[in-house]
Amino acid sequence: MTTSPTQRDPRSHPAGVGTTGRARIAGRTLRTDRWWVEPALTVAGLMFFVVYAGARAASQRNYWVDDYHYLTPFASPCVSASCVPGSAHFGEFLPEFPPLIPLAILTLPFLLLFRLTCYYYRKAYYRAFWMSPPACAVAEPHGSYSGETRFPLIVQNAHRYFFYIAVLISLVNTYDAILAFHSPTGFGFGLGNVILVTNVVLLWGYTLSCHSCRHIVAGKINTFSKHPVRYRAWQQISRMNGRHMQLAWVTIASLIITDAYIGLVSAGVISDLRFIG
Ligand code: FES
Repeated sequence: MTTSPTQRDPRSHPAGVGTTGRARIAGRTLRTDRWWVEPALTVAGLMFFVVYAGARAASQRNYWVDDYHYLTPFASPCVSASCVPGSAHFGEFLPEFPPLIPLAILTLPFLLLFRLTCYYYRKAYYRAFWMSPPACAVAEPHGSYSGETRFPLIVQNAHRYFFYIAVLISLVNTYDAILAFHSPTGFGFGLGNVILVTNVVLLWGYTLSCHSCRHIVAGKINTFSKHPVRYRAWQQISRMNGRHMQLAWVTIASLIITDAYIGLVSAGVISDLRFIG
């Protein structure tokens, strides 16, 4: 069938977009705003965190404040013979670690996988690092797309299992924060406790606002009225889930602040501001 010059194929968009494929435009995008700012900030933020966390975890130094029992999350749980006295809350059942091996080797890889497979972080680094696509209405440089159906991206589908492990690690962090209410003479707390507890609360916020958590709690329920408790929990998690992106970034900041504070106190650069004890 042919169309006259005044007729338009109903499957085509006026701007030249067919039912599939991209707009037929010469440039990469028609956007004139600074669409590249967000992916650039994402690259800078994530790179800073990875370099900082990697350097601190590998340093094996200044991770424990003996007077107040502060333990940085980057060295928790400390379970090897390399741990300084008092910092091994769960025993030293692993041998001494050579230099550069993170003391929290049992947990850090899983935390990394939990964040790497997070639905929000996926969006962030697919855009920022792989430019796939870098922003809405900006063409990506790749010629094909296989989604998360092949190795290595198929591992993204294991996110719910990393969520389970993250819950256990959050319990460990919570235990560390409780043990830190200590002074050389017994109970006590200072600014370090405020930072540790805030960090733990934010970590729980990030962990429980996970999309997988939301689905685990009530994703398969067809009739909410028959499961009022799970429904209430799902409502709360859904509310937090709307802030998941913010929690993803805030917890990066809180982890760095917590670790930096404990590192500085441990190194004797600053003193802990004590309120009691
Ligand atoms: S979706 Fe982000 S932690 Fe699960």
